[in-house]
Amino acid sequence: MDRAALQLILLGIFLISATSDPVKKKENVDIYSFYINSTVTSRYATTVITSRVANTLNESQEIQFEVKIPKNAFISKFRMTIEGKTYDGIVKEKEEAQQQYSQAVSRGQSAGLIKSVGRTLEDFKTSVTVAAFSKVTFELTYEELLKRRLGKYELLINAQPMQLVADFKMDVHIQEKTGISFLEVKGDLSTGDLANAIKTTRADKDAWVTFYPTRDQQTKCKSCGENGLNGDLLITYDVERKNPKGEVMVSNGYFVHYFAPSDVPRIPKNVVFIIDQSGSMHGRKIEQTRLALLRILSDLDEDDHFGLITFDSEVSFWKRELLRATERNLGNAKSFVKEIRDRGATDINAAVLAGVEMINRHPREGTASILILLTDGDPTSGETNIQKIMSNVKEAIGTKFPLYCLGFGYDVNFDFLTKMSLENSGVARRIYEDSDADLQLQGFYDEVAVPLLTDIQLKYPGGTNLTKTSFGLYFNGSEIVVSGQITDNSVESFTTEVIAVSKGSNVTYRDTIMTKDPSDVPPENEDFMQRLWAYLTVKQLLERQVLITGDEKEAQKKEALKLSLKYQFVTPLTSMVVTKPQEGEVEVADKPKEGEVPHRPPIMSLPSLPRGAPPLPGLSPYNYGLSQPRLPGVPGPPGRPSFHRYSGAYPGISGGFSRYRPTIYSAALPVTNDDDVEESGGQAQGGFAGHHPHIHSAALPVPGLVVKNDGADQVSTAVVDDEWPTVPGSETVHATAMPVPTVHSNRFLLSVDGQSKPLCFDVPVPYKLRLLRDLTSEFSMNGESVPGRKGFHEIAIHYKTNHHLTINTSSIRYTDGQSHLKFLWRQRPTQHNIEDMSLSLRRNKIEISMGNIHVSILLHMKNDDEFLWPVVLKQPKEPLCGIFGEAVISYEEVPGSQTPTLKLKDHDVKTSWVVTKDYRTASAPVVGCWLVPFKAVTQRELSVFAVTQL
Ligand SMILES: *[C@@H]1O[C@H](CO)[C@@H](O)[C@H](O)[C@H]1NC(C)=O
Ligand SMILES: *[C@@H]1O[C@H](CO)[C@@H](O)[C@H](O)[C@H]1NC(C)=O
Ligand SMILES: *[C@@H]1O[C@H](CO)[C@@H](O)[C@H](O)[C@H]1NC(C)=O
Ligand SMILES: *[C@@H]1O[C@H](CO)[C@@H](O)[C@H](O)[C@H]1NC(C)=O
Ligand SMILES: *[C@@H]1O[C@H](CO)[C@@H](O)[C@H](O)[C@H]1NC(C)=O
Repeated sequence: MDRAALQLILLGIFLISATSDPVKKKENVDIYSFYINSTVTSRYATTVITSRVANTLNESQEIQFEVKIPKNAFISKFRMTIEGKTYDGIVKEKEEAQQQYSQAVSRGQSAGLIKSVGRTLEDFKTSVTVAAFSKVTFELTYEELLKRRLGKYELLINAQPMQLVADFKMDVHIQEKTGISFLEVKGDLSTGDLANAIKTTRADKDAWVTFYPTRDQQTKCKSCGENGLNGDLLITYDVERKNPKGEVMVSNGYFVHYFAPSDVPRIPKNVVFIIDQSGSMHGRKIEQTRLALLRILSDLDEDDHFGLITFDSEVSFWKRELLRATERNLGNAKSFVKEIRDRGATDINAAVLAGVEMINRHPREGTASILILLTDGDPTSGETNIQKIMSNVKEAIGTKFPLYCLGFGYDVNFDFLTKMSLENSGVARRIYEDSDADLQLQGFYDEVAVPLLTDIQLKYPGGTNLTKTSFGLYFNGSEIVVSGQITDNSVESFTTEVIAVSKGSNVTYRDTIMTKDPSDVPPENEDFMQRLWAYLTVKQLLERQVLITGDEKEAQKKEALKLSLKYQFVTPLTSMVVTKPQEGEVEVADKPKEGEVPHRPPIMSLPSLPRGAPPLPGLSPYNYGLSQPRLPGVPGPPGRPSFHRYSGAYPGISGGFSRYRPTIYSAALPVTNDDDVEESGGQAQGGFAGHHPHIHSAALPVPGLVVKNDGADQVSTAVVDDEWPTVPGSETVHATAMPVPTVHSNRFLLSVDGQSKPLCFDVPVPYKLRLLRDLTSEFSMNGESVPGRKGFHEIAIHYKTNHHLTINTSSIRYTDGQSHLKFLWRQRPTQHNIEDMSLSLRRNKIEISMGNIHVSILLHMKNDDEFLWPVVLKQPKEPLCGIFGEAVISYEEVPGSQTPTLKLKDHDVKTSWVVTKDYRTASAPVVGCWLVPFKAVTQRELSVFAVTQL
């Protein structure tokens, strides 16, 4: 194929017009009522979602039920009612359920009943065949204990019924015995016209939030569209705390004690930040880390002492000692932070030990010491044996202070971080790679910024089977919750005692309550305390599983299983079996674990390599789950994905590029003047108002953008070659790079039929957008842009229910829910065929074909910024949904008008001729186009295409 022909294909990509409603499939399904009913009794939230659906077709069809629930919650009930008959999900031991229903499992039907989506939600999805003109009612219940963070509780409710609902109701009732101090309703669903559908009623101890949007209102929020509601309602509140000894409630033989004093002075901190600056932190991550650190430093109190350690394969110190947070020291530390650069490998062991030593050398009476580790990867340098690192760290810390681990992104071995922090009385938190990562980092710091008590012991003489009663630190804004059973239910009083160390002195809080006091708990919620106890006990037993071994581990696991079964919680140890009306049809729902996949045979297995085999070309068998097939004879170490074994045996597969990306000296690329071209183009219509500073070129003897024309791929490709010169002292190139110009919008080119000139339109950044969706082939592609930056920084593609591709500027990940694959940009070309899809990765481009849709994603570099650009190569003839789904095919220039005008979809549209870069090819040539408003092209508002989740 010659180049011209190929370009024709590339250009002929938007050949569709938009007319009919894209949501065809749902036409014969009517969700006539959708209720969400949430009751919060003393922070324990029970939410029931009820969806009533009619099949309006004259034949039977499959009807789907899909809802999103908080990750922290346990599902405790699922029921379908069809033609008067009920079908209840039954919670069973996982193994038993799997065996009993192995057929269903092996058919893959269980694959996706519950899936993890985004940061906070899980997706529950099932379907059932319903007879002609019949109805089905789905009912799902889940339960969670709301956690107090930064002085508030958050109840998150997601609503996305996928169509307009005649009777939509959300009822939230919050009852707090000590009174509600404030309550706020936020979230996407409280934006726009929808805000009018929310009613909040407050009494002293109760609050009701109702949300009854009319059909019309259901389309009118920031993230809602023609498919109705789509988004979250976030209710935040806090309770009154008149009694510093805490709030105790007793009911039906159980008690719960909420302890959150705030009348205590702040304890000065000794805090050491250990920051990963290895090569994988390159780009946005390191920028966000710098930003967060600068803000955190500003928040330190003057009597805090602090230290800063950065590490790659070497450990660097700001100062060898902890120093007081004086203005001068902070100013000095901030200069250090601004100079943090990414480079090298990851020596976690040496860095953490250095941090421990720094704190140990700096004992201060009456202070709280805290160690915070931020890393985005596995240990790859120095001591790399995880067991060894953990025992080193544990020995060095010796229970004296907590270690908090922040895992940045998904490349980290989060199990390792979790275990290491739990062993040292801290917690691990995941920092999601996103535009707000700096805020996440800062938010975490804020939670531990104000220690009020240390060495807290809670005692309950009349209680048994207690949840955790010993805590190292208590921070302002958080809350300690202990629950248990009452030993003797006939006693009339119940005593609590808390012993702790406050700023330099021992404190004791002792309280006695009368158990025969009339309870404020309404009778229908009477068993909530028992369930709360069970919920907390199971959570804590499961958490402890990583810390203990042998008989103790088995015993605790058994206990957690027993409770999960008794209370019908879907936990990591249990499965919910859903039997359907159709003979033999069974589904099994499992709770997904973050960053891990259930242990089942992967549908797409990696080839088993014999020892010493040559590396797989370009394939990085990087896997962050556990279901990876093992090399014959090479058992995986416990708790670790076995792929780590590959890296030793096959150098070059994952050892090299998976942790360490070549640094790209884009700042030094000879910059052509066509960057200025965009600016002039932007004048026409809110385009690129940003100024493009010129960047010093010629710092490197660089080939620059290499235009390649190899036989296999005739597209011009801008590549940074393997042979790219590594220049010593290259960091300085980065240091002098000019700030990336601020971009206000992305300009997309549309191809038009015949000889007409191209059209283009601008889409502002940032946005999470639906780029293309085809309901018939169950394909969707969404992209996220970032404030001030060009292109997209993450693109997600979903195909059928189980294929998911996530592409960002560093990697490409594929999962089918069971196996995971990861590729890196600029790795060797590779090709994968899975069922009716194929992925073909070139250095800076991936081509994806799924069914009859064919797209490619290019990785571009510009002014030291990297971004993604999606290109639709082929799509079916029918109109699709998304900003690329509704392109124009033809227009006419209206002659004789004063401002250039086009006749487009029967409207006269004013336009101007602009020039822009065509990022649909790697060489990004400058082209001219008629700039038209987005709405003129799609006949829709941009907000219609906004999505909340990629
Ligand atoms: C929610 O639950 C309460 C108590 O069970 C009930 O009175 C109310 O009618 C329910 N609301 C809806 C919309 O189902
Ligand atoms: C359903 O209705 C359509 C026309 O409305 C008809 O063509 C079709 O045969 C009907 N199907 C059944 C199963 O009755
Ligand atoms: C703890 O937080 C509360 C508000 O949540 C604040 O009023 C109080 O001053 C804080 N205590 C300290 C010691 O900072
Ligand atoms: C509670 O503790 C008692 C002993 O104190 C024990 O026999 C019982 O099994 C425990 N119950 C649960 C549910 O753990
Ligand atoms: C606090 O109590 C511990 C023992 O419980 C004791 O060793 C320590 O000296 C006490 N500290 C103060 C400041 O009273």
